[in-house]
Amino acid sequence: MVNEWHGAEAVSTKKEKKLIKHRAVKGYRHPALDKSLRQFRTRREAKVIAKLREAGIPVPEIFKHDDESMKIVMEYISGRQLKEVFHKNPKKYAKEIGVILGKLHAADIIHADLTTSNMIVHPKKGLYLIDFGLSFFSPKIEDKAVDLHVLDRALEAKHYEHYPDAMRIVLEHYRKTYHLAQPVLERLELVKKRGRHKQHEGS
Ligand SMILES: Nc1ncnc2c1ncn2[C@@H]1O[C@H](COP(=O)(O)OP(=O)(O)O)[C@@H](O)[C@H]1O
Ligand SMILES: [Mg+2]
Repeated sequence: MVNEWHGAEAVSTKKEKKLIKHRAVKGYRHPALDKSLRQFRTRREAKVIAKLREAGIPVPEIFKHDDESMKIVMEYISGRQLKEVFHKNPKKYAKEIGVILGKLHAADIIHADLTTSNMIVHPKKGLYLIDFGLSFFSPKIEDKAVDLHVLDRALEAKHYEHYPDAMRIVLEHYRKTYHLAQPVLERLELVKKRGRHKQHEGS
């Protein structure tokens, strides 16, 4: 069983029922910038997760965070990354994602890294959202549409057998959950078009 994850930004270690996420020094960044960036992201992640728990969105409980040691101690969610199990029940997971993202955006929080690696499936309690180091508060339609676009890209890249069906189900439940979804969904179509233009320019 894996007990440690090395990501681009942090090392996450499982200890009993806790998960310790540590943002270590990145030698390639200017030391002062590196420190302030790691502090900012540690604080931001702890703050956003606390707010989401209040809003009833399934995220881990935060036990402690310290922006000197750059560590967050949180509840370990026992389960698999959605990436590993998505194919087993894509419709059910797509629905759960849609409901969670509807609530997230209703709370004016942008995740900014929506992929199936940042979602954990608890066998009894269902889907949890994790990894809020890049997240931010915003009521803007554009930010929410771009958030959905990141997920759209991730589903097509990693779960292409279930794309675009799964994304359609995500958006259907996003719309049902979030009463201001309509303008975001309209903007998403524009964001997708922009993405396609950029691809052509680059080739
Ligand atoms: N609270 C948690 N419970 C269970 N697993 C977690 C938890 N937090 C992180 N993980 C695991 O560690 C991996 C990396 O953590 P994450 O917060 O996504 O950081 P990053 O992607 O920035 O390295 C996740 O994909 C997940 O497998
Ligand atoms: Mg991650």
